[in-house]
Amino acid sequence: MGCEAMQETIVAKGLDGVIVGDTVLSRVDGEKGELIYRGYDIDELADCTFEEVCHLFMYGELPSPEQEKKLRANLQKRYDIPAEVINFICENAKNDHPMATLRTSVSMLSASIKEVPLNNEALMIDMALDLIAKTGTIVAAISRVRQGKNPVAPNVSLGFSKNFIYMCSGSMPEDIVVKTMDTAMVLHIDHGFNASTFTARVVVSTLSDMISAVTAAIGSLKGPLHGGANTAVMKMLLEIGALENVAPWIDKALSEKRKIMGFGHRVYKVADPRAKHLKRMSKEWGERAHEKKWFQMSEAIENIMQERKRINANVDFYSASTYYMMGIEPDMYTPIFAVARMVGWTAHVMEQLKDNRLMRPEAHYIGPVGKKR
Ligand code: COA
Repeated sequence: MGCEAMQETIVAKGLDGVIVGDTVLSRVDGEKGELIYRGYDIDELADCTFEEVCHLFMYGELPSPEQEKKLRANLQKRYDIPAEVINFICENAKNDHPMATLRTSVSMLSASIKEVPLNNEALMIDMALDLIAKTGTIVAAISRVRQGKNPVAPNVSLGFSKNFIYMCSGSMPEDIVVKTMDTAMVLHIDHGFNASTFTARVVVSTLSDMISAVTAAIGSLKGPLHGGANTAVMKMLLEIGALENVAPWIDKALSEKRKIMGFGHRVYKVADPRAKHLKRMSKEWGERAHEKKWFQMSEAIENIMQERKRINANVDFYSASTYYMMGIEPDMYTPIFAVARMVGWTAHVMEQLKDNRLMRPEAHYIGPVGKKR
């Protein structure tokens, strides 16, 4: 057999293991179960505020107290969203998927946020901060309208997480709620070249623009194999309903070869380092709310998945019961993920542009050839 005939096309379906670029933003070590944000282990940062880690991503360093204050003020002045976006949310949020409303709302921001030259880093950071600040306001408004309530205007004297919860609930949150939200936000900010981040990088690699990139990323995050898993986890827990139903429910799902949402990961071969923080918060929230069943059910599912499949919980699994205990509607979990991930997406967009190359993989054609009309 000649050499040519022996050559086989290797198809990297799903891009498993393919390294498509360099990044200084985050490292996901699937063997060690480690997540690094710009040099810091995620465990080091889990206690930080959203603003501190946002500063790390935008400017490369954790802020001094003065710098944190400055960034907070910079975000605060950008909290407001245009009236046409509020109107759109009021008209559509109740009947559409919240991620679809979010996707269109963020896309609409291009009418008021002017495009800036892609090589002007300072203006690109301003645009990123605009998107980060306004996404929080958009998601809170979507949450309100879906509950039949009016959106709450942002309170520009509040920090990011506190203002976000204030806009969702309409009342001033307790410190513990703000702390939990800060930690959840920090844990979701970035994660290497995950599907939505890669989507954003592909879009901007054509020298499109930041809003197009993050709009596409929101579409990618929506899917249940990615960000949509946290909502799917809570829906599963609600369907199971009680601790004694866990084992038969999971047995049946596994025997039908169904995926259990919130488990497994393309990169992590060991525990997802973010999951333990969310597990701790889920337990604490269960105790605080005197409703331990969601945590107990989650832990029972985790044990079965470990025994039966050797598959670990990922970031989405315990975030579901944590948010539920905080009184957040399940449909809003993925939009909340998007609020945090907006930091990562915009940072990746800027990084991609610094050393850009059009993303243009090839396809392995397996259709027929030589057909005649
Ligand atoms: N439940 C049950 N089985 C699972 C599973 C899950 N959540 N995740 C993976 N598996 C099993 C698959 O059935 C497959 O088993 P098989 O080899 O016997 O067929 C094996 O593990 C490999 O799964 P595969 O889907 O090829 O792995 P992947 O690298 O594509 O998986 C995910 C990554 C995230 C898509 C997958 O784990 C998944 O669908 N998880 C549920 C959704 C989720 O939580 N997404 C959020 C990720 S942060």
